[in-house]
Amino acid sequence: MTHGGGRGTTNREKVLILDFGGQYTHLIARRCREAGVYSEIVPFNISPEEISRYSNVKALIFSGGPRSVYEEGAPHPDKRVLETGIPILGICYGHQLLAEQLGGKVVRGSKAEYGRAIVNVVEDSALFASLNKRFEVWMSHGDAVLKTPEGFRVTAISEDNLIAAMENAEKKIYSVQFHVEVKHTPPGMQILKNFLKNVAGCRCDWRPIDILDEVVRSVAETVGEDEKVICGVSGGVDSMTTAAIIQRAIGDRLHVIFIDHGLLRKGERELVLEGLKLLQIKNVHFIDASREFLMALRGVRDPEEKRRIIGRVFVEVFEKVASSIGGAKYLAQGTIYPDRVESGATGALTSLIKSHHNVAGLPEKLGLQLIEPLKDLYKDEVREVAKTLGLPASVIERHPFPGPGLAVRVEGEVTEEKLRICREASAIVEEEFHRAGLYGSVWQAFAVVLDSKWVGVKGDARSVGHVVVVRAVTSEDGMTADWYPAPSELMDRISRRITNEVEGVVMVAYALTSKPPATIEAY
Ligand code: XMP
Repeated sequence: MTHGGGRGTTNREKVLILDFGGQYTHLIARRCREAGVYSEIVPFNISPEEISRYSNVKALIFSGGPRSVYEEGAPHPDKRVLETGIPILGICYGHQLLAEQLGGKVVRGSKAEYGRAIVNVVEDSALFASLNKRFEVWMSHGDAVLKTPEGFRVTAISEDNLIAAMENAEKKIYSVQFHVEVKHTPPGMQILKNFLKNVAGCRCDWRPIDILDEVVRSVAETVGEDEKVICGVSGGVDSMTTAAIIQRAIGDRLHVIFIDHGLLRKGERELVLEGLKLLQIKNVHFIDASREFLMALRGVRDPEEKRRIIGRVFVEVFEKVASSIGGAKYLAQGTIYPDRVESGATGALTSLIKSHHNVAGLPEKLGLQLIEPLKDLYKDEVREVAKTLGLPASVIERHPFPGPGLAVRVEGEVTEEKLRICREASAIVEEEFHRAGLYGSVWQAFAVVLDSKWVGVKGDARSVGHVVVVRAVTSEDGMTADWYPAPSELMDRISRRITNEVEGVVMVAYALTSKPPATIEAY
């Protein structure tokens, strides 16, 4: 597990989320920020001394977790944290932990509740202020709190007669069995706000944009008066926003490198160059390296091998350009908060994703120091910052696109023919989602080209053509995703247009699997 290090950097009020390995830890952190309080995820066993190194901590939240509190090796907090006087909210496993740690009783196994449930508020509570006395929640637990610790009172009970919430208002320790952070708990956000505002006394006025001035100042301070910074851009919102921030901090000492690896989306090269122009970035080093990449990929079928080759050639090309700039000391990268902070349950997944997402080792290879101005922000927060910096909507709103580009959307060998199909078909998918007003409703929508063929009929003649799979998913952060139930008219238009307009395609299929078990990208 790696965790963030915003320790003591600013005086903004913050809430620390102790990560006990729950699948929703990042979601809790995001909801706090949406509620207007800056949040960071920290290890579950953080000590009071470490907490005091963060400035202005207003509250602690104990996350959920996949274990049972009595299980051997189950994560437990440093008990002294419970005596710091900082308001605490326990969620699910966090709720059970508080009960167990403070002398209550938890039962294993037999009292499970999964999915939708109804709870009834049985005592007035600051947590439930302005809510109905009965509401729907999302439960996901096998164990349950049987007896509250001394000094606690039960404030809500589920329809299965289990303790759904308890509190010790005097000590400012509150806990809920259900997940306030998920959308399936409709009053969840209000409950979280009640905790942050009414219990923890937060002002709740933080906005992502507040980070911008701080970050610009800190980049300017780090880089100093004379040094140059190199920033690679891909056209994605993260790297473009990074470049815009560096530009704001140090002006024309920023050198942007943009490599076209021949695996970009339709019109992307032009879009990126226009965006850079709009930002008035003076030193743009654009390299069309598509031939080099495609040559290196010739005959390669294995997906991991393709990714490795793309990574290697990227570093080679980047190194060449960077050394021609001369005298740069820093490399800016668009790493964002979820790239950097793995939460317990997603840890394995994240480290795998990271290995192929980041161009590992680039700063060391180039002998440059890394600057990551977006390291504390979530994607939607980056988008907000990007808006303030004047990035064009076409960049801000565009769906995420993987570093290895269309190579991960083409089965087997990357050929000009399959790239053409993938590019054209994906452009149709994006256009039609735009036209239907649904582009912003999905995380990504694109086309994948299979090697498998399907027999087609055109007039009287039979001919075989490629199968194209359309994939559209909704997601909060790319870690998990649901397939998107697109309206049938939209699917129909996309399918007809692809077979009519993209030569060599006979069949269009729609991907109906979520992540997990499938990844979002195909290869
Ligand atoms: P997967 O396919 O792993 O994708 O479910 C999760 C999210 O990450 C993007 N992705 C990548 N991004 N380099 C990147 O910069 C990569 O190699 C890569 N592979 C996947 C993907 O588009 C999705 O948003």
